Amino acid sequence: MSALLDSPPVSEVPIQDFDIRRLPAPFGAEVLGLDLARPLHAADFARLHRAHLDHHVLVLRDQRITPAQQVAFSRRFGPLQIHVQKKFQLAGHPEVLVVSNIRENGEPIGLGDAGHFWHSDLSYKEKPSLGSLLHAQELPRVGGDTLFADQHAAYEALPDALKSRLATLRAEHSYLARYDELRARNPWRPALTQAQLDEVRPVVHPVVRTHPETGRKALFVSEHFTTRIVGLPGHESRALLDQLFAASVQPAFQLRHRWQPHDIVFWDNRSVVHLAAGTPDTERRKLYRTTIEGDTPF
Ligand code: SIN
Repeated sequence: MSALLDSPPVSEVPIQDFDIRRLPAPFGAEVLGLDLARPLHAADFARLHRAHLDHHVLVLRDQRITPAQQVAFSRRFGPLQIHVQKKFQLAGHPEVLVVSNIRENGEPIGLGDAGHFWHSDLSYKEKPSLGSLLHAQELPRVGGDTLFADQHAAYEALPDALKSRLATLRAEHSYLARYDELRARNPWRPALTQAQLDEVRPVVHPVVRTHPETGRKALFVSEHFTTRIVGLPGHESRALLDQLFAASVQPAFQLRHRWQPHDIVFWDNRSVVHLAAGTPDTERRKLYRTTIEGDTPF
């Protein structure tokens, strides 16, 4: 029987009994008692969708799901994006990017320095990611945290004069912005082929975006991918970007996620930027990432 025929009809999918609890942090919530290995009722999906919009980062505890189930769950939010680093796709699952510092036979099995600088995933695309899911596979005994910063709060805290100045500004985002710098530290990062370069041509987005589902404004620049503010002289652009980068990641707007086995963390790239805090070289860390395509920012 096909997997499709094995699934119960939608009307027979039971509603699950699960809790959504705020984390002891400025934002974020944990989801307890939900099993993504089971079919998801539309009402449960709607609760998760609402919670994702309200809390920006959801930590779904104890998810023992396969990569195919991660892909299927992610797809309920929209089409998935394939990362330009095809070398680190999970075998048989091109939608899954392996994020890992592990080496096998001297070769990295995943993107080891993903998230080294604060960023919003795939902001260098015309349609950046709506959200990303990371599913823990192997966790270090120390380190390996992921930090998030709330870009609505960062925007709202700016002085009114600066908000007015930003209202019409646009900035360039490029995958290549810090590529050479990362490559110098991590020589296994491959030189990009022409086909890859064509996939990641620089794009321009508003410096302040409006969340397409909640209508809230958020800062949309990052130290990893934003190269310049369009139309400003170089030094002015640099000074303003540095000011905005610092404003966007103030500790008061941050959430630090300390991974637990089988966690899935699902964040909203339209609301937060994130950073991998780093893992000691002596420790092993492996996570599977899916990214969902979002809208063109406005
Ligand atoms: C990422 O930026 O996608 C990875 C973040 C992490 O490894 O914590």
